[in-house]
Amino acid sequence: MEEQAKGLLKLVNEKQIEKNTKFLAVASGKGGVGKTNFAVNFAYILANDYDKKVLLIDADIGMANVHILVNVNTKKTLKDILNGAKIEEIIFNTRGIDILPGFSGIDAINEVEDSAVLRFIQNLNSISENYDYILIDTAAGIDNKVISFIRASSQTYVITTPEPTAIMDAYALIKSMKKLYDYSNFKVIINMAKSEEEGFETFERLRTSVKKFLDMELTLGGILPFTKNIQKTVRKKQIISEVYPSDKFVLQLKRIAAEELKEPPPEIKQKFWEKVVSFLRKG
Ligand SMILES: Nc1ncnc2c1ncn2[C@@H]1O[C@H](COP(=O)(O)OP(=O)(O)O)[C@@H](O)[C@H]1O
Ligand SMILES: [Mg+2]
Repeated sequence: MEEQAKGLLKLVNEKQIEKNTKFLAVASGKGGVGKTNFAVNFAYILANDYDKKVLLIDADIGMANVHILVNVNTKKTLKDILNGAKIEEIIFNTRGIDILPGFSGIDAINEVEDSAVLRFIQNLNSISENYDYILIDTAAGIDNKVISFIRASSQTYVITTPEPTAIMDAYALIKSMKKLYDYSNFKVIINMAKSEEEGFETFERLRTSVKKFLDMELTLGGILPFTKNIQKTVRKKQIISEVYPSDKFVLQLKRIAAEELKEPPPEIKQKFWEKVVSFLRKG
């Protein structure tokens, strides 16, 4: 590593983050199960009902669509930060939530020099310390980027629907993370449940497989009902929590948020970005 880069790394490590930010990943095996809607509405509730400082990172490359869901146009992405842009120029605020759009181009991290990467980490660190919660909306599946974000997060919400294929894919994600990285900090969300019973049955199916084959306990984060209001709001580029605050989906999500708030933030600084970058670079 270059001398200058070493100096920077020292600086990065010495700068302690006072506020202990909680990094939460949102993941799924299968696409289209409701990750982005979960992430956006969870962020909305934490910010607006609980007055938390929340940053939502759209790490779903290709299908990066948080900004579409909230109806904001963006031009710059994280790739521009790697090329020297300030992160402050890229984050935008809507409805009380700060959003960092489009993690596309992050692969380029393997091609830029160490000093640029360290500036990148430092920039992300100094931004991150402003937040109580940082939610990361990941892509479907388990590519290297998704894995890196999950590994670095203190907790991951795994979203599935009652569909057998979605359950299978959620299982595959949990299995990979457990077997390859001994990561098991999952909370399962059953989305689009037609009834509470269907939700519990779905969780039970996943829980028993995980117990039997991975010898691991799984936690239920909550059951979110199917609601036509989500589809209505998505089409209008609105947020259900804002437009239909008493929809059953929103009420359940508020319970999940209340549970999350009961769990104290980590006592020590998490070095989230250092981890993400090193996982991205070394795998
Ligand atoms: N609880 C729900 N009830 C009804 N439809 C839902 C629900 N959650 C998500 N959807 C629908 O599923 C679609 C995909 O959701 P999205 O959050 O974009 O999934 P992902 O990010 O996992 O790909 C949305 O456009 C919405 O119409
Ligand atoms: Mg999505």
